[in-house]
Amino acid sequence: MCGIVGYIGGKRAIDFLLDGLTKLEYRGYDSAGVAVNCGGDNIFVEKAVGRLDSLKQKLKNNLPAGNVGIGHTRWATHGRPSDLNAHPHSDCNGNFFVVHNGIIENYLTLKQDLIKRGHKFISETDTEVVAHLIEENYHGDFVLAVRNVLAKIEGSYSLLFMSKFHPDTLIAAKQDNPLIIGIGKDGENFIASDIPAIISYTRNTYILNDGDIAVVQKDKIQFINRQGTPITKKIFHVSWNAEAAEKGGYEHFMLKEIHEQPKAVRNTISPHLNGKVTFNELNWSADFLNNINKIYIVACGTAYHAGLVGKFYIEKLVRKLVEVDLASEFRYRAPIVDENTLVIVVSQSGETSDTLAALKESKRLGAKTLAVTNVVGSSIAREAEFVILTNAGPEIAVASTKAYTTQLILMFMLALYMAQLSNSIPQAEIERLIKLLKKIPAQISETLSDVEPIKTFAQIYGFNDDVFYIGRSLDYCVALEGALKLKEISYIHAEAYAAGELKHGTLALIVEGVPVIALATQKSVYDKTLSNIKEVKARDAVVIAIAAQGNDQLSNYTDHVIFVPDTDELLIPLLTVVPLQLLAYYAAITRGCDVDKPRNLAKSVTVE
Ligand code: M6R
Repeated sequence: MCGIVGYIGGKRAIDFLLDGLTKLEYRGYDSAGVAVNCGGDNIFVEKAVGRLDSLKQKLKNNLPAGNVGIGHTRWATHGRPSDLNAHPHSDCNGNFFVVHNGIIENYLTLKQDLIKRGHKFISETDTEVVAHLIEENYHGDFVLAVRNVLAKIEGSYSLLFMSKFHPDTLIAAKQDNPLIIGIGKDGENFIASDIPAIISYTRNTYILNDGDIAVVQKDKIQFINRQGTPITKKIFHVSWNAEAAEKGGYEHFMLKEIHEQPKAVRNTISPHLNGKVTFNELNWSADFLNNINKIYIVACGTAYHAGLVGKFYIEKLVRKLVEVDLASEFRYRAPIVDENTLVIVVSQSGETSDTLAALKESKRLGAKTLAVTNVVGSSIAREAEFVILTNAGPEIAVASTKAYTTQLILMFMLALYMAQLSNSIPQAEIERLIKLLKKIPAQISETLSDVEPIKTFAQIYGFNDDVFYIGRSLDYCVALEGALKLKEISYIHAEAYAAGELKHGTLALIVEGVPVIALATQKSVYDKTLSNIKEVKARDAVVIAIAAQGNDQLSNYTDHVIFVPDTDELLIPLLTVVPLQLLAYYAAITRGCDVDKPRNLAKSVTVE
């Protein structure tokens, strides 16, 4: 969490800092702050609790003119959101300034020692220790001071330092949290946590690896490791364009990203279809697959829900056992993993701390590792042995939408690829499924073509305190994702249940007027689902069903039915999730919530 920006060059730094922070606000919005070197002893600092707009408001008629600066947008971990806890932080004398994304795990011990040695702290943050440590370790050599501080701190960080004594230099360091350097054309360079911040300025970047230190000047960028040895890095050219990271006429990024799903799914499918399913980046053999006796899918949040669907795909099409695990649980429970295990990690950002740690642990235990991610060059992409990419383009809204559908389609194709290798299903069945998967982008467009009824349901039921989602089999997996979408952006209490579980407890919560969203698309368990729908209807719940076109009899047992185009029951989650995303979106609008920036959340979760 947290977004970092830095500028050094010939222009007014504040313009890039504010623009870059605007693009990074998805990473956290508890407070924001900037420090700009205006020459001589004059370092301009401004901070404001709350959204970036509060900082902009404070700066309105007082924009600093300096050409070197750093900025930060915060997702609070240590210390509540406040002006004082906002970054940048500085030492006792205001000579050094630092912005930080991550957690300094040993900060308490360091802080106590620094206080004993006379340092005065003004914030409750872990970051402030770094500024005081620099002060103590500085004896004229800025780079050496940073290296000495890095040797003392433990935890995860991307850090950016500025010093009054070195107005021509910014120093960046990375461990576990992302940081990139944007190479400017006209004697200027940029530093940021993520590509959207710099993409309108340059597409040529350096991606820092763990342990890298970058010494950035306006016309020079040097890299060293923590021992001070120079390192050479390759330029990474970003292929996204700036427009892809903008709202493009939609009121919110979430709505734009929901509507981008046909294209995102098409772009994810096309590199891997060549008569059959191909993954050149894997190039697995039948032997490779034969030697795998267990598969884990490990992820968090929406990506975990995509993993649950992936389990169905692989188990059904490849007939191999798959376990799905939450990354934050997996890494701490001594998972049974060895060289015959394939661990698939799923992560849109490729930076989620828990997922990254689970991946590292799996590698340590000898597993084969495969990352399904949306971000080339992300920490997870670089750590995994194999990588396959969802081509969703940048996803900015905190609530994940197109990342989920592209993860689903990619895992479906992965399962087909494995099925081809292992001959686990007949060729004719593979061909039938490929034919159907090609139709999915157009079917998503069709699903998106009439949002009015969904808007109306959101307006009618958007003020309920509780909403339940039910379904069986893959419908249950999608129900989990639908409930997550609703709770995270509209703050309505939403729970998803396997429909068959209702009678084991949850049915007690179903009373007159409670909305129940019932997914009823899985043909193999359809009759059972229908019985569960009748059970909630008998308790006077309001049932909104999601069903495949042609299932006309369902309206006899429910209050409303939302139809999606028909396809194979394995592929239908790609369609049923769309009305659930829209329902959550319009419910949040009805309730006046900030859709793209829900409270307490951030897009990229780079802390444990
Ligand atoms: O970037 P990742 O896919 O690893 O993120 C994992 C979760 O934090 C993420 O899916 C989260 O649950 C979504 N924002 C929910 O919409």
